[in-house]
Amino acid sequence: MRRKIVAGNWKMNLRFQEAEELLDELATRLEKEQRSGDVEVIVCPPFPYLEMAYDLGTDEEDPNMVYFAVGAQNVSEHEKGAYTGEVSAAMLSSMNIEYCIVGHSERRKYQGETDLMVARKVESLLQNGIVPIVCCGESLEERESGNHFKVIERQLTEGLFHLEPLDFSRIIIAYEPVWAIGTGKTATPEQAQEVHAFIRNLIQEKYGKETAKQIPLLYGGSCNPATAPELFAMPDIDGGLIGGASLKAGDFISIINSFE
Ligand code: PGA
Repeated sequence: MRRKIVAGNWKMNLRFQEAEELLDELATRLEKEQRSGDVEVIVCPPFPYLEMAYDLGTDEEDPNMVYFAVGAQNVSEHEKGAYTGEVSAAMLSSMNIEYCIVGHSERRKYQGETDLMVARKVESLLQNGIVPIVCCGESLEERESGNHFKVIERQLTEGLFHLEPLDFSRIIIAYEPVWAIGTGKTATPEQAQEVHAFIRNLIQEKYGKETAKQIPLLYGGSCNPATAPELFAMPDIDGGLIGGASLKAGDFISIINSFE
């Protein structure tokens, strides 16, 4: 059985006090509510809130009791040194951060993050024991011109396929069509499944059947409580990377409970 995962990508939202309230509500409700199945919940707030997220997501008295794990939204490709404003994988690891999003389309678009930078960031994270959540996905133009499979294959080949099998087996991949992000236009379950099956097939060709079978593939892009159940029921969709809907505790928890 593959792992089921729901990760919240808060992006650049919420002030400190609002973040504290949301984290507190999530922890309380995830502790109390019966959760369907065994879903890994990950919260990815902005850097300044990571420590608070870790503290509120983990039981003070019993560190094995985790309501949600914590991920960063970005990491430097460099190890350390004179890179003003950057945050290294070693720093994240020293704060018990377990996951980190890499190659999100917003970073590719606004910060010029390239496949080569994704490759370096992934390596740095893995060396520091952090699980990369690597995003891929095509723009509307690329889909309309029928190039979406080609784009995704390039992103995965150049960003990930240099990894040794053992390292590769530790990552999580998120398919996020750019045209679906923040637009309210969720991909249909069939559209998402088609790409997820394509990604799994690429992994199988490169790393073999066993690895392909166990890598979690998340869908992201306007995923909400209404669309999550059908998406998560698809055979190659193992959960979601949730933006807007992760900023409301009720919506995020409904999505977590959307697995059959
Ligand atoms: P969205 O964002 O759910 O707001 O579309 C998803 C993401 O960008 O990770």
